[in-house]
Amino acid sequence: MHFHVPLFALTLFAQGFSGCPAGIRPPILNGPMHPRPLVALLDGRDCTVEMPILKDVATVAFCDAQSTQEIHEKVLNEAVAALLYHTITLSRDDLDKFKGLRVIVRIGSGFDNVDIKAAAELGIAVCNVPAASVEETADTTMCLILNLYRRVTWMHQALREGTRASSVEQIREVAGGAARVRGETLGIIGLGRIGQAVALRAKAFGFGVIFYDPYLPDGVERSLGLQRMATLQDLLIHSDCVSLHCSLNEHNHHLINDFTIKQMRQGAFLVNTARGGLVDEKALAQALKEGRIRGAALDVHEMEPFSFSQGPLKDAPNLICTPHTSWYSEQASIEAREEAAREVRRAITGRIPDSLKNCVNKEYLMAASQWPSMEATTVHSELNGAAAYRFPAGLIGVAAGGLPGAGAGVEGIVAGSLPLAHGIAPVSHPPHTPSPGQPSKAEADRDIPSDQ
Ligand SMILES: NC(=O)c1ccc[n+]([C@@H]2O[C@H](COP(=O)([O-])OP(=O)(O)OC[C@H]3O[C@@H](n4cnc5c(N)ncnc54)[C@H](O)[C@@H]3O)[C@@H](O)[C@H]2O)c1
Repeated sequence: MHFHVPLFALTLFAQGFSGCPAGIRPPILNGPMHPRPLVALLDGRDCTVEMPILKDVATVAFCDAQSTQEIHEKVLNEAVAALLYHTITLSRDDLDKFKGLRVIVRIGSGFDNVDIKAAAELGIAVCNVPAASVEETADTTMCLILNLYRRVTWMHQALREGTRASSVEQIREVAGGAARVRGETLGIIGLGRIGQAVALRAKAFGFGVIFYDPYLPDGVERSLGLQRMATLQDLLIHSDCVSLHCSLNEHNHHLINDFTIKQMRQGAFLVNTARGGLVDEKALAQALKEGRIRGAALDVHEMEPFSFSQGPLKDAPNLICTPHTSWYSEQASIEAREEAAREVRRAITGRIPDSLKNCVNKEYLMAASQWPSMEATTVHSELNGAAAYRFPAGLIGVAAGGLPGAGAGVEGIVAGSLPLAHGIAPVSHPPHTPSPGQPSKAEADRDIPSDQ
């Protein structure tokens, strides 16, 4: 399968992009003269939330892949937009395989599974959904912190294993180590959206909250009534419980390691709901075994999906683990998917990167491409501009391949299994050009109120 650059794209290159570096990719083509752009959900199957938002402007495919090797050639060649969770990684080599991609939207806030610089160099915008799970993740973090102090999980386990606590002595045995929260110092590393939400919650429980975040401007500590630490070492020395809330990047892999653990208070707690790569699990396991860390609660791990039967933590004591689920609630999941689909829609109907709401590599993208400022009038009026929408809503009708509940327009393209004939079927889009000044149904439907 080859990627065919439509005539319009070539014309556009000639008109609007002459002299631009090779990394620039043409705008997403849409309009009656073009096949509907292909949007692919890479590491999932269910597109039922995304479909109503995208069906009048795109064909949506799902790949259900865990690596780009499992992605169908048709998607690699033709997808203009990719949606993904955190269970697939897109390195530079992976990104290189996508020939027509213009935008990647992470359904969630962390985007460390995508090489955003490489994407920018290839002319691909990367976006995230920063807001959807802030409360869920902060609530789960508090739950884990309180579990370490109040030992609920371990008491539950003891009861399940038949332990009885009918005398004070037995209670002491079962609840041994349970500690008071009030007056303890919680040290937050990374005071972003979730870090702040945890700080506010922790204060209500009686924690003294300190934080370390070298990227924030002076004054945040005053607006939130927190104590700022100048260095990571200061934070580690002063915390009874350390909670990680920084993004994972090339500078902070194994931020918590044997050396930094030794800077923590003897018998401190450690909580990580941010990213597994921030903690050297081998060093943590050793510190738990030696009691230098009294207990740890991890929602994220170096290797996911996490299993208690493998890896350095398999026989570590005083450890609570959850399977990277802090972000999840039904509402948060739906909100994230809706917002991600709306971002894809903005990419298709507007201009990249200007129309995007949460583009995380905009600076790299501009620097890599010296992006020309494209006024709508300099682009062909039928291309990539909201003014030019003429698709009748809901026309595409590829039946969902075995996906219960999927709406029209969803096609599953799973791991090299389907011959192309069963790929995204060519769907006829009869030119439906309204009279000048007379909006089509799709134009009328285009404004999605919740997007405002
Ligand atoms: N477990 C889950 O289900 C789940 C859900 C949502 C988010 N997350 C993760 O939680 C983390 C925080 O998310 P967010 O939305 O609050 O991100 P955010 O971007 O709002 O905040 C991250 C903060 O970390 C700071 N930071 C970066 N590097 C740092 C370092 N080396 N030391 C100290 N501070 C540093 C940044 O300045 C920023 O203020 C991310 O890693 C994200 O991937 C996990």
